[in-house]
Amino acid sequence: MCGIFAYMGAKVATPILVEGLRRLEYRGYDSAGIAVKDESFTVYKKIGKVAELQSILPDNVPGNVGIAHTRWATHGVVSDENAHPHASVSGDVIIVHNGIIENSRTLRTLLEKKGISLSSETDSETIAHILDYELSRDNNPTAAMHRTVSKLHGTWGICAIFQNHDVMVCARNGSPLIIGKGDNEMFISSDPHALTTHTQRVVFMEDGDIATLTSDSISMSPLNGINKEANITVLEDEWGEAELGDFPHFMLKEIFEQPDALRHCISGRLDRVRGNGRLGGLKLSPLELSKLPHVRLLGCGTARNAAEIGQILIESLARVPAVAHISSEFRTNDPVIDPQALHFAVSQSGETADTLSAVKEIQIKGGQVHGIVNVVGSTIARQCGQGVYIHSGPEQAVASTKAFSNMVAALAMFAIQVGRSRSISKERGQKLIQGLQQIPHLIEEYLENQGPIMEAVNAVKNAKSVLFLGRGISAPVAKEGALKLMEVAYIPCLAYPAGEMKHGPIALLEEGSPVIFIAPNDHVKQKTVSAIHECRARGAKIILIHEKGDSISEEGDINIEVPNVHSDLSPILTVVPLQLIAYHTALELDCDVDRPRNLAKSVTVE
Ligand code: F6R
Repeated sequence: MCGIFAYMGAKVATPILVEGLRRLEYRGYDSAGIAVKDESFTVYKKIGKVAELQSILPDNVPGNVGIAHTRWATHGVVSDENAHPHASVSGDVIIVHNGIIENSRTLRTLLEKKGISLSSETDSETIAHILDYELSRDNNPTAAMHRTVSKLHGTWGICAIFQNHDVMVCARNGSPLIIGKGDNEMFISSDPHALTTHTQRVVFMEDGDIATLTSDSISMSPLNGINKEANITVLEDEWGEAELGDFPHFMLKEIFEQPDALRHCISGRLDRVRGNGRLGGLKLSPLELSKLPHVRLLGCGTARNAAEIGQILIESLARVPAVAHISSEFRTNDPVIDPQALHFAVSQSGETADTLSAVKEIQIKGGQVHGIVNVVGSTIARQCGQGVYIHSGPEQAVASTKAFSNMVAALAMFAIQVGRSRSISKERGQKLIQGLQQIPHLIEEYLENQGPIMEAVNAVKNAKSVLFLGRGISAPVAKEGALKLMEVAYIPCLAYPAGEMKHGPIALLEEGSPVIFIAPNDHVKQKTVSAIHECRARGAKIILIHEKGDSISEEGDINIEVPNVHSDLSPILTVVPLQLIAYHTALELDCDVDRPRNLAKSVTVE
């Protein structure tokens, strides 16, 4: 979704801003713009990609201070006028804004009554005019920002620069902003990922914070009136390259990175001798773990699918009741929270607004939430204050792949850890730990020999719809396969537990309908075979994901085999062919596989 990047220092700002925007591109956006301050402001805005913005920039844009933005339209159509930055009428104030100003209609009317005509349809532009008006009262940019945000309802990450003041003022409420402190230079970004090429020293702004920056100072003056120090956090180096390297697309690169991503996720967290997991970020004693009444997991999209696998593993291995919830439904249903229970917020970006709201709902009701998060220092990670980083490295394709497998691995380690404090024997624990250690290698083995993926692609690419079926632990894998294909290739996809198919989806089947079955060699496989027969009897074309050497292969029209795997961990392996089918189908259909239409990597609105 929208992204902010800003710079002030001694260097020429424009190339730094453009590079910052490039690093935010993966979040999804529809227009981009920059404003640079020299003797006066120059503003460039363009719908489309950052490359298109770049194409209208003159060779040398002078100025050492600037703000930049990628917009994902909410208020107003996708147009150059609606793109950020937005200037006040006098031209003295320029802002970029992430979030939604809920009372923007009222503010527009008030501004129009004052004779100010707005030049865009956005909610954000109102901020520039109000800030300018407030600045004219006492010529103090920080105080003006205080008075401005006190008039706003909604969410914001705002960054403002001023014609007559050599400061940048930022404000945060519900939309992330991070200050990067360099040597006599400052960077601001809505995403830590865009800062790390410049500096590891960052300040995570909190809701209610207002920060006034020069190139060598940060002054925090929160809305609550209690001034505070800018707390500098030193970001640890994350593994992984943010560049494409030899890969044509980020999605493919990230599919291939799964073995290494998993190695980073499990490294130091497996105790082979005791057959146990060792998740340091869980602030629970073995006694507390042994007494857990239940576990609830929250997530959206892919994270929710991983949470469903976590639910099954926690129940089956740890023998603790567990439920995975869709974050966006959680708060609205006024859930009962047990303070003794454990809650997990599962999120790659750590910024998903629906999941963040669910976290806050649990905390307000006295519950504890642990994060299962990829992006270090993200809002959800900090709001939870405890949990497990999954260490997938930067995930830039909008369609999540390597984060999914690491979420499942992290939840499996948790299930083993709780299981060992309750019901699992050392020997069973050792087998699971060994299974986890083998997975990266098994994915590599599969990726070297992917099977007839292109045959599957040909079977689905022109289909009216594709049905994904799996049972037990493979039912959420079916959901994940369907989500991937729908997201990147825009084919309507339906996922069901295989046993439920005969209660409805079977009506869709006709001669040649593609049905993708996920059927690893586990205790529910035979039941899946019955569902295959029912589909075949209606003329369906069966694409079967199964384990190597399994006689179930006789049931498929197109058989894709994966190496043999511990049955509790099969989702980490069986999902890989599904990711590849989605990727190659999107290419066959000429879709923008890394940036599918209408989707954003980080969904920061509810
Ligand atoms: C699927 C996908 C989305 C995200 C969802 C949650 O490929 O990318 O469905 O999984 O928006 O995002 P995070 O994990 O960042 O909370």
